Amino acid sequence: MKELIKKLTEAWGPSGCEHKVRGLIAEEVRGLADEVRTDPLGNLICRKGSGGAKVMIAAHMDEIGLMVSHVDEKGFMRFVPIGGLRSVALYGNRVYFENGVVGTISAEGEGWRTTPDREKFYIDVSTGAEAGPGVGVGDAAAFWREMVERGNRIVAKALDDRIGCVVGIEAMRKLAKTDHEIYFVFTVQEEVGLRGARPAAFGVEPDIGISLDVTSTGDTPKDDKMTVELGKGAAIKVRDGGHIVPPAIKNLMVKRAEEAGIPYQLEVLPGGTTDAAGIQLSRAGIPSGCISIPTRYLHTVSETVDIGDVQACVDLLVEILSKPIEL
Ligand code: CO
Ligand code: ZN
Repeated sequence: MKELIKKLTEAWGPSGCEHKVRGLIAEEVRGLADEVRTDPLGNLICRKGSGGAKVMIAAHMDEIGLMVSHVDEKGFMRFVPIGGLRSVALYGNRVYFENGVVGTISAEGEGWRTTPDREKFYIDVSTGAEAGPGVGVGDAAAFWREMVERGNRIVAKALDDRIGCVVGIEAMRKLAKTDHEIYFVFTVQEEVGLRGARPAAFGVEPDIGISLDVTSTGDTPKDDKMTVELGKGAAIKVRDGGHIVPPAIKNLMVKRAEEAGIPYQLEVLPGGTTDAAGIQLSRAGIPSGCISIPTRYLHTVSETVDIGDVQACVDLLVEILSKPIEL
């Protein structure tokens, strides 16, 4: 599983440019699904089983990044955000473009003591040579960092939400037999407003939706009061900034976790949301829940998860999908 996490987190795929990640996932799921297709927006839809409840599982392939909006005479590039960029996480960071060019981010007036506004930041892609870097206005970039292991912890960029993709793929692997019609959907453009999950849900028309995504934790110094902790198991979402999970779904997840002895914790997230919110509001309404992977330092290049929690999320999803789903 760690090899897959490394492969997917290190892949390049800012929102709207998920093709590389989709290619990698398509290879992984070959032979695991009864049918695999890509919809018009780029969502990868994998069906497994038929009959029973129609369930849509969603994990997003895209990651936050940026897009070049202006290049000055010296070649310094300004950018607009793709998704929720944190200015505090920009300075000195590295981004890379699809063609492999690496850019360094800095800000006007080095020596500042407070975080500048995003507009003050620029990307340096100077080569010191005659040939330019081959990137410019309209090109998207993602952050660059290698995955590392520290004991049971995995530190990487884009764990949001490649770790959700890993949970989905591993569940497909483990799910020997199901009486349901399950659509594992690897979605596009979640970070810019659930733009892939909504049309995908319209097309799949499921009875119930479940997203697999990261959630923040409340276990670091002076953090918000939040009960989710790293290493305490799968987080079953109760509520986030855009989604109140129907109690019947939350209760079903809790029941399955308790029956199977899978460690879990309840997630009440103050802000943010996931693809499940998009699914829930599509068509005439599709009741949806979410299994969250507790993650520290979201939307930075050092997002951190506990491998035991990831396993608990896989186990819980498999448990739910291999038993009756009555709401
Ligand atoms: Co995110
Ligand atoms: Zn996410």
